[in-house]
Amino acid sequence: MDQRINEAVDVLKRGGLVALPTETVYGLGADAENELAVRRIFAVKGRPASHPLIVHVGGASQVRTWARDVPVHFDALARAFWPGPLTVVLWRSERASDAVTGGQETVALRVPDHPLTLAVLEAFGGGIAAPSANRFGKLSPTTADHVRAELGDEADLVLDGGPCAVGVESTIVDLTAAEPRILRPGGVSREDLVRVLGRPVRLGGDGDDVRAPGMLVSHYAPRAGLLVVDPQRLYAEAERRQSEGQRVAALAPPSIAVPAAVHRAEMPEDAEGFARELYGALRKLDAEGFDLVVAALPDERGLGLALKDRLLKAAAPRGQ
Ligand code: TXA
Ligand code: MG
Repeated sequence: MDQRINEAVDVLKRGGLVALPTETVYGLGADAENELAVRRIFAVKGRPASHPLIVHVGGASQVRTWARDVPVHFDALARAFWPGPLTVVLWRSERASDAVTGGQETVALRVPDHPLTLAVLEAFGGGIAAPSANRFGKLSPTTADHVRAELGDEADLVLDGGPCAVGVESTIVDLTAAEPRILRPGGVSREDLVRVLGRPVRLGGDGDDVRAPGMLVSHYAPRAGLLVVDPQRLYAEAERRQSEGQRVAALAPPSIAVPAAVHRAEMPEDAEGFARELYGALRKLDAEGFDLVVAALPDERGLGLALKDRLLKAAAPRGQ
């Protein structure tokens, strides 16, 4: 077995923190049943204790040890999308502690699709609680270098599994009500959920619902300001801001015109490619010292829904 897998399992068993690659973003993992280790995740991230973590498991068969009253449509979702970028919220069993669930009666579970992390999960045997491996409110890391830059040596081990294939976080679906509901759009599209479930899938919380902090405004934020505009307005808006003296970069695929004086961070035309490169591109523009990033509002088809969500959250007023 890969020596790195043994090492990761040792660190987890000792109650340490391991940064793990997944197909979405890198996670900062701990033994989900070790309360001290889980509390350290919150401390390292600077994350409020009321914001629950996702428990990553090696296979769908483990779900019923973490959850109870699992509805029938769970099995269809697991068959269609696991391992993969889907997180399900279910009623928790005794196994899911308050530390992991933020004191809620529900638990979020997912089987990630990355060979290294699946091997760690198999060798470890238990669940790994892991949020994205960034400081609270910041951009999620999609490479091991991002993780090191973000957390320094506060992770006991960083497993480098290469760049993340999806690049935005998992889709979170709440299965505790009669109708499944998307709490956070992500790597599995709404269209695919509707196809597999054979029914409409609502989007969003109840208004007063802050169970998923990814649903708060100003999340996933770069240092630079971000302005999200209709594609037809991007050229004029970028030009105006630049002429006002800001250093402006445009996050734009080739089909969108960008003024010559404005830096173009060239993005793929398709939503999958855009998602894969989004966080890395924003990190790079931050490092290059741009004041403002202008991006076109994506349409909501496929991964576009998740892109729109992340861009609007990164553009939301700060300090909330
Ligand atoms: O793709 C992903 O989901 C990545 C990788 C590492 O798996 N993880 C991730 O974790 O994005 P995090 O902690 O950054 O975001 C998890 C989201 C949070 O918004 C949290 O509030 C929500 O999941 N969540 C966790 N448990 C929940 C629950 N019981 N009910 C509702 N939302 C929950
Ligand atoms: Mg996160």
